[in-house]
Amino acid sequence: MKFALVCGAGGFIGNYIVKQLKREKFWVRAVDIKHHEFDSSAADEFIIADLRDPQACRAIVDRRFDETYQLAADMGGAGYLFTGENDAAVMHNSASIMRFARCNLTGPFNIGSEETVTINQLAAMAMDIAGKRLRIKHVPGPMGVRGRSSANQLIRQSLNWAPSKPLRVGLEKTYAWIEAQVRQARAPQITAA
Ligand SMILES: NC(=O)c1ccc[n+]([C@@H]2O[C@H](COP(=O)([O-])OP(=O)(O)OC[C@H]3O[C@@H](n4cnc5c(N)ncnc54)[C@H](O)[C@@H]3O)[C@@H](O)[C@H]2O)c1
Repeated sequence: MKFALVCGAGGFIGNYIVKQLKREKFWVRAVDIKHHEFDSSAADEFIIADLRDPQACRAIVDRRFDETYQLAADMGGAGYLFTGENDAAVMHNSASIMRFARCNLTGPFNIGSEETVTINQLAAMAMDIAGKRLRIKHVPGPMGVRGRSSANQLIRQSLNWAPSKPLRVGLEKTYAWIEAQVRQARAPQITAA
């Protein structure tokens, strides 16, 4: 039997990876600071622990694991994505993560989008998808990183892999989903008398 460790298993991606590993007959130890909010875990063992604590980490890796997935992170705000419509996308992403974990590349490698857009271009793209022409108003606020992009040469050469969908396609899907949520929230609620 193969053994797997999934850190951050109470989260969005970790929970799916545990399910997939169980389908593949792994024995799975799941670790998170909390249980999954909307689902029970398929893991053989679910340990509640804070992975910032070195002692907890040592206790968790008390045996050899064939595969280890580290997904624990303070992401903030991803909870809204927990819907059925997003299941297919998450399963696809989880399958990709597992494929990368099992490939013979050992160092770090990028898997992000190589598309670079300014925030103005992103806003213009969202307006175009919405079929709306609006004025962009820049407001003062905290500034994050000035830009992010992924150099995918290594993964392309090694695994012949590249992200399959352009940003526009993802944004179209995200827009449609958000629009449906807004419509649903605005719809009159009919309750039984
Ligand atoms: N969801 C996405 O679309 C996406 C896209 C790109 C990258 N990622 C990255 O993948 C990773 C996982 O994403 P996710 O969507 O599953 O996030 P998530 O927030 O759903 O899951 C993260 C889990 O980590 C746990 N955690 C946080 N701090 C911990 C700690 N100190 N000890 C133990 N557990 C702790 C949280 O409780 C949570 O259950 C993150 O690094 C995220 O940035 C996610």
